[in-house]
Amino acid sequence: MLHLGKHLLLQRQQQRCREPPGPFAWPLIGNAAQLGSTPHLAFTRLARAYGDIFQLRLGTWPVVVLNGEQAIRQALVRQGATFAGRPPFPSFQLVSGGRSLAFSTYSELWQLHRRVAQGMVRSFSTGGAGARRRLEQHLLAEAQALLRLLAWGSSGGAFVDPARSLVVAVANVMSALCFGHRYSHSDSEFLHLVGRNEQFGQAVGAGSLVDVLPWLRCFPSPVRAAYAAFRELNRDFYGFVRAKFVQHHGSLHPGAAPRDMMDAFIRLQQEQPRLPLEHVPATVTDIFGASQDTLSTALQWLLLFLIRYPNVQAKMQEEIDKIVGRDRLPSAEDQPHLPYVMAFLYESLRFSSFVPVTIPHATTADTCLMGYLIPKDTVIFVNQWSVNHDPAKWSNPEDFDPSRFLDEKGFLNKDLTSSVMIFSLGKRRCIGDELSKMQLFLFTSIFVHQCNFTANPNEDPKMDFTYGLTIKPKPFTVNVTLRDSLDLLDSAVQRLQAEKTASENHLSANL
Ligand code: HEM
Repeated sequence: MLHLGKHLLLQRQQQRCREPPGPFAWPLIGNAAQLGSTPHLAFTRLARAYGDIFQLRLGTWPVVVLNGEQAIRQALVRQGATFAGRPPFPSFQLVSGGRSLAFSTYSELWQLHRRVAQGMVRSFSTGGAGARRRLEQHLLAEAQALLRLLAWGSSGGAFVDPARSLVVAVANVMSALCFGHRYSHSDSEFLHLVGRNEQFGQAVGAGSLVDVLPWLRCFPSPVRAAYAAFRELNRDFYGFVRAKFVQHHGSLHPGAAPRDMMDAFIRLQQEQPRLPLEHVPATVTDIFGASQDTLSTALQWLLLFLIRYPNVQAKMQEEIDKIVGRDRLPSAEDQPHLPYVMAFLYESLRFSSFVPVTIPHATTADTCLMGYLIPKDTVIFVNQWSVNHDPAKWSNPEDFDPSRFLDEKGFLNKDLTSSVMIFSLGKRRCIGDELSKMQLFLFTSIFVHQCNFTANPNEDPKMDFTYGLTIKPKPFTVNVTLRDSLDLLDSAVQRLQAEKTASENHLSANL
């Protein structure tokens, strides 16, 4: 009875709801041609004309675009389950062997999958002192290798392009967490695997034509080439992780402590047989894959801001030197005492908004959102950029100014930091948010504690970017010089390596 009453109420509400407004859609292509090379900016312009909720058509797909904090919160949080679906785009089925957590739609199995994956990521990153220490250990090893490489490349006042080394550094942190293995910066096979991030993001970013105009794939075109590259990339990536899974599955002794996240997942699946075994490599592929493009792009932006705003870099060094000193390295425990460093991180995430639009969502039922009727199976684009650049929320949003996050006493304003939208909200919120923030904090604070970063005066200071699922800065070079020596990092890495070897010996002696 109650259910029927609710149903009638919803029906009445929906009768009062109207279709969202939107621009005229052309036959065949709909509004595809209007999005241009920067869909998030096109959406923000269209929101000025039609309001925060408007509709488009891309090919034959009906799309509703959500802009601004209120509409996004209302949909993803207040009506979470209704907006938690994913569209059945053909490209989504190619990810993680077709069992991707990120690209599968909302279902009971998906909810279990997400709970398990989220718990796992937490327990391997921020869940307790042991996990934090293990993460720090992997990260220190990568920071050491990376800074050594960049400083070496900068000798004699040269400038180096840091992009590729950053990709390897973050891929190695995640590879160490997931598979217990790191790769050399000159390992060409690993580079080939992790160096193709752009191709992934360009196929699945909102406004990509790969899925919405499938007929473009029927004859030679950039869309056809992008789809073929995407298919190959996903096959290689899943193949790499699946081979690791087979190795781990075959060598994990009953009763032995898990060596890494893959082992821990295999154990968990054994306790949770409702989750099929193939979901183990699929989930690790998602975790390894989702972290690649995002974290390496974040580090590129952070470095770019350090060199474009040398005063900000100097202020961070001053704060770190005062709190941490020069005799030890910054660590996770320092985070609450370094508000300016944290303000820099949040301002970098806000200003770059480098995941401008989330992975496309889809509605799982007919619904009414702030007076607008949105039928089931509508594709939903969530424009995070519009929240981070809303002039009603941020004064001079186009200025880079970390101090906007500090109160008059210099403390971090937590209300404001939580208004930065880059990890999305609700049931599809990124499961790597805390892990990412911790990695970005550690990398940044170690970078500025150890080195000075200088811009190339021959490069255009304008911060241009390329669009995909993530926005990347156009290639730039940097000069990196050591502030003292790498002795602190070297000895920390040696100490941690000795501890790791001792614990591995202990483990194998007990088997
Ligand atoms: C700064 C780095 C990162 C940013 C900005 C970021 C951002 C995002 C965004 C915007 C989404 C889509 C949410 C939506 O569709 O509404 C997402 C999903 C996801 N992210 Fe991240 N991410 C980052 C790092 C990571 C890392 C390190 C991991 C690995 C643990 C990860 C794992 C995932 C997964 C598995 C999903 C899919 C969630 C779902 O569909 O339910 N991300 N992320």
